[in-house]
Amino acid sequence: MAKQRRELPPQTISSRIVKEGVQALRDELERLRDEFNQKVAASKELEELEKLRVQFLGKKGEITMLMRSMNDLSAAEKPLMGKLLNELKQAAAREIEKKKVELNEQFQLREQEAQRIDVTLPGRNFNTGRKHPITLVLEEIEDIFTSMGFQIGEGPDVELDYYNFEALNLPQEHPARDMQDSFYIDKEILLRTHTSPVQVRTMQKMAPELPVRIIAPGKVYRRDDDITHSPMFLQVEGLVVDRDISMADLKGTLLLFAREMFGEGREIRLRPSFFPFTEPSAEVDISCIICNGRGCRTCGETGWLEILGAGLVHPRVLENCGYDPEEVSGFAFGMGVERIAMLKYGIDDIRLFYVNDLRMLRQ
Ligand code: FA5
Repeated sequence: MAKQRRELPPQTISSRIVKEGVQALRDELERLRDEFNQKVAASKELEELEKLRVQFLGKKGEITMLMRSMNDLSAAEKPLMGKLLNELKQAAAREIEKKKVELNEQFQLREQEAQRIDVTLPGRNFNTGRKHPITLVLEEIEDIFTSMGFQIGEGPDVELDYYNFEALNLPQEHPARDMQDSFYIDKEILLRTHTSPVQVRTMQKMAPELPVRIIAPGKVYRRDDDITHSPMFLQVEGLVVDRDISMADLKGTLLLFAREMFGEGREIRLRPSFFPFTEPSAEVDISCIICNGRGCRTCGETGWLEILGAGLVHPRVLENCGYDPEEVSGFAFGMGVERIAMLKYGIDDIRLFYVNDLRMLRQ
């Protein structure tokens, strides 16, 4: 059992040494040794050990102070007590060093233990991202057309009224502008309502070079919002300009696309329509992928589903873009990517693509 520590300031020890002589100093020395050994043995952290070193061996440490109190001993007592105290001091310093090595080793072991890989633990699940269904469909559309020799063109989302409407034969106050109400930045600048302005930009850059054969995928914006209309959606524009281009070329290209995209046996039909920038114009339908043309709820019992608008490039647009309509002709089309994705994946609400519900996206 360690001796009970008595809280005696050095002056008191000094006065005891004066009164009781060397025995008081021996008592104190022993008490200190016991207390020191006990505390060092119990210390568990390097910081704790450093505090003990300061407490016992520091400038004002207990062993240091005890050495100072030797001045009160007689000349005959000093050598022996000096020797004992020095031994205590050196032993304490050695003990601290030894403990330090021990604690360091323990610390390193703990570190190694923490870094050890337990090969028996079950593996962790990584949440890897995957492509959005719209991206997948867009990439498929691009692959189909680039394999037919189309190049990819592009234009800005924030567009000039001139490219979005004017050059496409839609002057100010043209009633067909109402079908594409948009978000205006100012009177002349708007978020593009379709990808058709890329037709103009591409032809103006290339004229009079032939052939022009591009698709232009990109975001477009309209004041629309219901289960089949989104205010922001993707379109892919197609444009071919060359000599002797006819509706037959348009139909052949789109039939090939429909079969690549939705499977062999798919049929298409062209219905007369109106776009100010094509003449003639058509809406293009594919035979319903649910009922194969027999008629069901999805196709409204008609057997057909609309996928895009198309036509032969209007002579005035060719002129606006630097081509002579007497010499060349062209076809163009514009399809909604979400609509294609809805048909491909059997999704009945366009908004599901944009609410980021992983349960839907994972399917
Ligand atoms: C156009 O945008 C024409 N620029 C297409 C065109 C290009 C015609 C070249 C002739 C020559 P329309 O407004 O019909 O046409 O849109 C084309 C397709 O975009 C539609 O068939 C539909 O699939 C899709 N679409 C239209 N509005 C929305 C909307 N709000 N949300 C999602 N898809 C839409």
